[in-house]
Amino acid sequence: MPETDPFFRGRRLRNSAWQRDMVRETHLAPWDLVQPYFVVEDDTEAKREIPSMPGQYQLGREALLRELEEPVRQGLKAIVLFGVPVHKDEQASGASHPEGVIQKAVQRIKKEYPELITITDVCLCEYTSHGHCGLVQNGSVVNDPTLERLADTALSHAQAGADMVAPSDMMDGRVAAIRSRLEASGFVQTPILSYAVKYASAFYGPFRDAAQSAPEFGDRRTYQMDPGNKREALREARADIAEGADILMVKPAQPYLDVLQALNADVEHPLAAYQVSGEYSMLKASERMGWLDGTQVALESLTGIKRAGADIILSYFTTELLPHL
Ligand code: PBG
Repeated sequence: MPETDPFFRGRRLRNSAWQRDMVRETHLAPWDLVQPYFVVEDDTEAKREIPSMPGQYQLGREALLRELEEPVRQGLKAIVLFGVPVHKDEQASGASHPEGVIQKAVQRIKKEYPELITITDVCLCEYTSHGHCGLVQNGSVVNDPTLERLADTALSHAQAGADMVAPSDMMDGRVAAIRSRLEASGFVQTPILSYAVKYASAFYGPFRDAAQSAPEFGDRRTYQMDPGNKREALREARADIAEGADILMVKPAQPYLDVLQALNADVEHPLAAYQVSGEYSMLKASERMGWLDGTQVALESLTGIKRAGADIILSYFTTELLPHL
């Protein structure tokens, strides 16, 4: 092969680590990643591994504070919190309770780790007795009455000290409802990270075990998106921008990289992607079987998600990968 051949020139930049590092187009860094945590309220010292998500736990408040020590030392920048309450009811009253599982956890975290960016998931599914993301009347999820409850919930998170709120319920108009409630209460600076493009995905299976939020009847296909649709993602994104979202999220991540890329080309807002529970569990299972190198596939998956256009990635691999970044 002559040295002037373009292929040979490519090689000249792949022969050693410094060459590859120098011309790499996509680098993963701690600022790209957000670690999700599941907080329980029954036993504050509790730490229970989630069977379908090896390495992920349901944590009591004190256990979570201890769990954060090492990752924070290793450069963890941001977390997203999901609550697993003891009490559930039709109105999801626990979701917005000032002494609720998330509200108390946020207060403690921001006291111990003031620099750690604490994002809260805003949804009713963990708090409703039926497990749906909104209020249910006559057997179906009702959009507008749910908006009030979501706004109450987001406000209670902001009052507890959350740095950012992330509505994941997929009701129409919730970004506007949350934005106006936050503004009316003086939280004009709290950004909304909207799960704008959230598909009705089978990859959420392990999460529903972790958050104990599987719907008791029916499914979420009336309010979450059809996996076959891409143009609809642009419509959802534009609607959320118009309502005042600051960051838009695509979820799941890896099966929807084309959607992420399309959004990246089409909207100027910062983009997040959620590498969801099922994506994590697949790779973990293969690692356990000895079929894949867990760390390498995790790094490669996250690099792909960033390359497709994500500025921020929510991933259960975050804390595990911090030492490798
Ligand atoms: C709640 C919510 C879900 C996830 C994040 N927020 C589950 C769902 O919609 O059923 C899934 C996250 C994951 O699978 O890791 N609405």
